[in-house]
Amino acid sequence: MKKEDIIIAPSILAGDFGHLADESKRIEQSGADHIHIDIMDGHFVPNLTLGPKAVAAINRSTDMFLDVHIMVYNPYDYIERLVEAGADRITFHFEATEEVEETLSYIRKCNVKAGLAFCPETSETMVTSYLDKCDLILLMTVNPGFGGQKFIEPVLQKIKFTRDAINKRKITPRIPSGNNKSSIFPIQVDGGIDAETAKKCLEIGANDLVTGTYLFKAPSMPEAIKSLRDCL
Ligand code: DX5
Ligand code: ZN
Repeated sequence: MKKEDIIIAPSILAGDFGHLADESKRIEQSGADHIHIDIMDGHFVPNLTLGPKAVAAINRSTDMFLDVHIMVYNPYDYIERLVEAGADRITFHFEATEEVEETLSYIRKCNVKAGLAFCPETSETMVTSYLDKCDLILLMTVNPGFGGQKFIEPVLQKIKFTRDAINKRKITPRIPSGNNKSSIFPIQVDGGIDAETAKKCLEIGANDLVTGTYLFKAPSMPEAIKSLRDCL
């Protein structure tokens, strides 16, 4: 993976929920590219987190690209509110709806980027069916629901399979990814990412790294972000 194509997206889930505005500024000042915001409904995953009101509050505190990852059933029903709240990309789960295509196209119609997420167990052949209908593929490297879990190694194979399919079919981003610095179709990984697992993911074809625990527990967030950019 080329250095200029690497995107670092700290997951605010690992931050201090009493000070979301300060945490957003800290992410911005640490040299990250995006802010990753995890929304969970207590049904699709066994945890509850933030909602559109918190996304709006984060949006007021920063100009950064808001990468919103929704782990909810019926994602279609939340798009409008998340767009109003300031989401720049909405990524929902393939496993959470029977209306995958409708939901992707509605997100795009709202002038927001559409991401499609896949749980570790979901077959790689499902992933490649949607490459030309979305703006990002998120390959979960843990089972969604909680921060601080262990990276699931077999997902590396799925990353390779997906990047090979993107290259073979010459799929390019519809509009340049995120902060415009990257020109490749993004494969995002999320869960258990640190400098060691990031290296494995980048080597095999991922370029967009979501990290929570590793960055927020580090003595210095800027240094930890640098370690991810320099891990190759
Ligand atoms: C898990 C979330 C992740 C989580 C990652 O379901 O989607 O974004 O915050 O946290 P770490 O980096 O701690 O695994
Ligand atoms: Zn996430």
